[in-house]
Amino acid sequence: ENFFTQRDILLGKKILITAGPTYERIDPVRFIGNFSTGKMGYAIAEECAARGAEVTLISGPTALSVTHPGIRLIKVESANEMYEAAIDIFPRMDAAILSAAVADYRPEHTADEKMKRTEGKNISITLIPNPDIAAALGKMKKPGQLLIGFALETTDEEENAQKKLEKKNMDYIILNSLKDEGAGFGYDTNKITILSRNGEKKTFGLKTKKEVANDIIEHTLIPFFEEKK
Ligand code: CTP
Ligand code: CA
Repeated sequence: ENFFTQRDILLGKKILITAGPTYERIDPVRFIGNFSTGKMGYAIAEECAARGAEVTLISGPTALSVTHPGIRLIKVESANEMYEAAIDIFPRMDAAILSAAVADYRPEHTADEKMKRTEGKNISITLIPNPDIAAALGKMKKPGQLLIGFALETTDEEENAQKKLEKKNMDYIILNSLKDEGAGFGYDTNKITILSRNGEKKTFGLKTKKEVANDIIEHTLIPFFEEKK
């Protein structure tokens, strides 16, 4: 009885997930990007869909594909494109999980032609700030909607993550541990701490990204939708 209630609670829930890196174009053949593979976000999308959720996955460039028919995939390239798609879709969602590694800056200008090399000369590219998708959704958030973000920190991890959660009006923030071998970018495993709005903290061991996805679902989405019933 309990088992089925828990498995069914995501049935028909509309969940937005962002995943992967963003690419910020310098010229037709070059970009500024990062090492995100999208594996964590895609795993969350698959596990939510497996529990019956209607998932919209906004993904930056990755080598991954989706398997579950309950996932609608929207492919984008830049932070601006991800932002436009996210703010358009969020009002119709019950929850959003923002796992994308969004570029904080982009080149001020994108060259129309491939930039030529000049022997022995330095060049510089001026970078301008990208929109903060999480902060924008935090401002748009209505009662009954849940907003979950990720944080990657190298100093004062928990304190900085908690500040990020509050600043962006998130309900939970998932802190990725960088200190442990096998966690983070490119790996099939991850180690997380879940921090909540009201200061609760849960730390998990090194697990596969599929297991981590289920830990996130069970400690954030499920209590939220249980409470709403
Ligand atoms: N995020 C976002 N849009 C951005 C930057 C970040 O939606 N332009 C989201 C990420 O998807 C993540 C959360 O905000 O859920 C925190 O991202 P992070 O890079 O850790 O934080 P920043 O606010 O960008 O701060 P900094 O990189 O300076 O630590
Ligand atoms: Ca950032």
